[in-house]
Amino acid sequence: VPHTRYVPAVYDRALVAGPDLHLDVRRPRVRASLEDALRRAVADGRLRPGARLPSSRALAEDLRVARNTVADVYGQLVAEGWLTAHRGAGTRVADTPGATAALAARDDETLTSPPPRFDLRAGMPNLAGFPRREWLSAARAALVNASPDVLGYGDPSGRPELRRGLAEYLGRVRGVRTAPDRIVVCSGTIHAFSLLCSVLVEREAAAVAVESLGWKALPNTAEAAGLKRMTLPVDDEGAQVDRLRSAGVDAVLLTPAHQFPTGRVLSPARRHAVIEWARATGGYVVEDDYDGEFRYDRRPVGALQDLDPDRVVYVGTASKSLAPGLRLAWMALPADLVRPVRAALRRGIWQTGVFEQLTLTHFLAGGGYDRHVRRSRLAYRRRRDRLVAAVSRHVPQARIAGIAAGMHALVELPPPLTEQAVLRRAAERGLALDGLTTFLTDPALPCPPSIVVGFGTPADHAFGPSLRVLVDVLRGH
Ligand SMILES: Cc1ncc(COP(=O)(O)O)c(C=O)c1O
Repeated sequence: VPHTRYVPAVYDRALVAGPDLHLDVRRPRVRASLEDALRRAVADGRLRPGARLPSSRALAEDLRVARNTVADVYGQLVAEGWLTAHRGAGTRVADTPGATAALAARDDETLTSPPPRFDLRAGMPNLAGFPRREWLSAARAALVNASPDVLGYGDPSGRPELRRGLAEYLGRVRGVRTAPDRIVVCSGTIHAFSLLCSVLVEREAAAVAVESLGWKALPNTAEAAGLKRMTLPVDDEGAQVDRLRSAGVDAVLLTPAHQFPTGRVLSPARRHAVIEWARATGGYVVEDDYDGEFRYDRRPVGALQDLDPDRVVYVGTASKSLAPGLRLAWMALPADLVRPVRAALRRGIWQTGVFEQLTLTHFLAGGGYDRHVRRSRLAYRRRRDRLVAAVSRHVPQARIAGIAAGMHALVELPPPLTEQAVLRRAAERGLALDGLTTFLTDPALPCPPSIVVGFGTPADHAFGPSLRVLVDVLRGH
């Protein structure tokens, strides 16, 4: 095979150095249409104040028009105040304070809503505590060591080195019995669940069961996939799985280690009962182990998957242990679901970015993940203790439940407090809070007046003030 040497093209610096700019220029009235297109792009904010324009030569080349035409148009727009031209700085969009402020206000309206002053909503870890320095060194190691082929589409199940690392970690920390070829890396629990739903639909499954209190995004995902759903009431022992026997469903979604949001643990008898149901019917149990690492008082509750790795799909996520913005989660699959899930993944080629995956690989292997979880566990435990102490002291009639694990607690409101009144008062004080009804997946079921307090959410400096406002609100202030 003849060997051809790669010869780099010699580029004209003036033509490749400037920014690209899309402008719709019509012929034959090139000058007028260019002027108009530029004026409109500045007026509607597509070209932001201060933005640098290409040199007249580069733009002329891109648009295939005479350079003088572009120079004339730039001159005209400078004269009108749309653009500025300074020697050395090139031509830029004029930065008039009025226009800049108007655009910033419009962006604020459409892109951001102001964060609440105090935030005790459930579901979020302390984002200010994200281990930036250790994550950065893992990211650097990932980038430096990655070979070029890593940048291709790759295996949709995820990077093999991450699947190896996760199989080891999940076995060690959560008692999950799995192997790298049964692990699939996903972009969040919802992604995992929607893949499973599509596989179930393909197998002509008709219905799934979900807990009567839970994160509604998951049952909504099942419905969007075309599955019916039934709900299992939740009590002090977790979901009432005995109802599955007559339910005629193909799968059940549970949060066995720490029911979301009541915080109950699925009792040992029910753990065995749900596995028996799955074995007898060929159904699957989907175990959402969203905060399994954060257990404080009792011995850790291991993964349900350990009871039968061929009937339980284990789903874990980095959304609580690290940050939801990473969009990193994983499944440990029963052997017979590996092929169909991979096929479903291939249909969408919807996978987590490779550098996030490789960074997590290094983070796990270097012990950073374990260290971060241990540090966070201690910090959340202290917060939980402060929450329990404050509520018991100031509102002794309120019952606090579900506090042995995780980063949220259930506060059952004593009469005459109602969920609605507490949420209204909280909103008046700038405190974002969730009522238990937010998590009711079956509106027909009764819901005792309660609030769900997410004590992980605030940054350290904001936790004390948030807690004071909560206590005030519960005391009716
Ligand atoms: C019950 C439950 N499971 C899982 C998750 C995490 O979902 P994801 O991995 O898509 O961020 C959440 C997030 O709030 C949750 O409440």
